[in-house]
Amino acid sequence: MTKTTNSSLRTGPDLMARIALVTGAGRGIGRAIAIALASCGADVALGARTPSELEQTASEITALGRRAVVVPTDVTDPAECVRLIDTAVSALGPPDILVNNAGAARFKPVWDYADDELDFHYAVNFRSMALCSREALAHMLPRRRGTIVNIASSSGKKPYRHQGPYCAMKAAVISLSKVMALELREHGIRVHVICPGAVDTAMADAVHPERDRTGWMQPRDIAQVVLDLLALPDHLTVDEVVMRRYLAEPM
Ligand SMILES: NC(=O)c1ccc[n+]([C@@H]2O[C@H](COP(=O)([O-])OP(=O)(O)OC[C@H]3O[C@@H](n4cnc5c(N)ncnc54)[C@H](OP(=O)(O)O)[C@@H]3O)[C@@H](O)[C@H]2O)c1
Repeated sequence: MTKTTNSSLRTGPDLMARIALVTGAGRGIGRAIAIALASCGADVALGARTPSELEQTASEITALGRRAVVVPTDVTDPAECVRLIDTAVSALGPPDILVNNAGAARFKPVWDYADDELDFHYAVNFRSMALCSREALAHMLPRRRGTIVNIASSSGKKPYRHQGPYCAMKAAVISLSKVMALELREHGIRVHVICPGAVDTAMADAVHPERDRTGWMQPRDIAQVVLDLLALPDHLTVDEVVMRRYLAEPM
């Protein structure tokens, strides 16, 4: 099949003077998304727990001539989710774009999860997304504009051995994203959910150190799709993007 050479199909979004907030922006997918947004003109607030990693992302953003604000945040704490949005708004202004990317996983058979590990999967992967969205929406709804991008996973689309709570919470993220898209469409706010398969990051390192990464998706691939979603024309939307490396099985 001939690939299109129509370069107008790959025009990036103009995000000049837009304010974005990215959770989990210290490394991996979140870092790539934050820098990609800044490369299109956005000023970006960065949330995660490790200040040194956030500072590295921030320095790349300021080198692009955009503003970056570092907000060390543990998104498993509801009060910190509230503080993250408040701090971002005070420093940069009301958000136009929220990317709920922070997430984590511990893999083992389902019967081995302790109570606090089940709570952890809920708090980091699902509740953080719901709370950050709620707080950001308080600023988006009155202005009748905004885009929320939630980073779910292929693990929310199909079962993987030893990923029980992670699969379940990512499926919940997909479901909540679609309810949000439904409820927010009449308020001028878009919601997208991206479900990547394996991406070559520290998370993959931690859970699959033995695997050969040849041909895996890179964080920039997910960032490119975020830009593509933000470049969609007003009359259409894409609810869900399912991504995999070319040689992986379709979901
Ligand atoms: N890598 C994959 O194969 C893959 C595939 C599908 C979906 N995903 C999803 O993509 C997202 C990003 O994953 P990644 O692969 O880029 O992982 P990563 O390299 O481990 O990065 C995760 C980011 O989230 C932050 N984070 C983790 N726990 C946090 C917490 N409690 N509070 C605030 N920030 C927290 C981390 O910073 P701190 O540790 O400093 O807090 C880091 O900046 C996750 O939602 C993940 O589930 C990943």
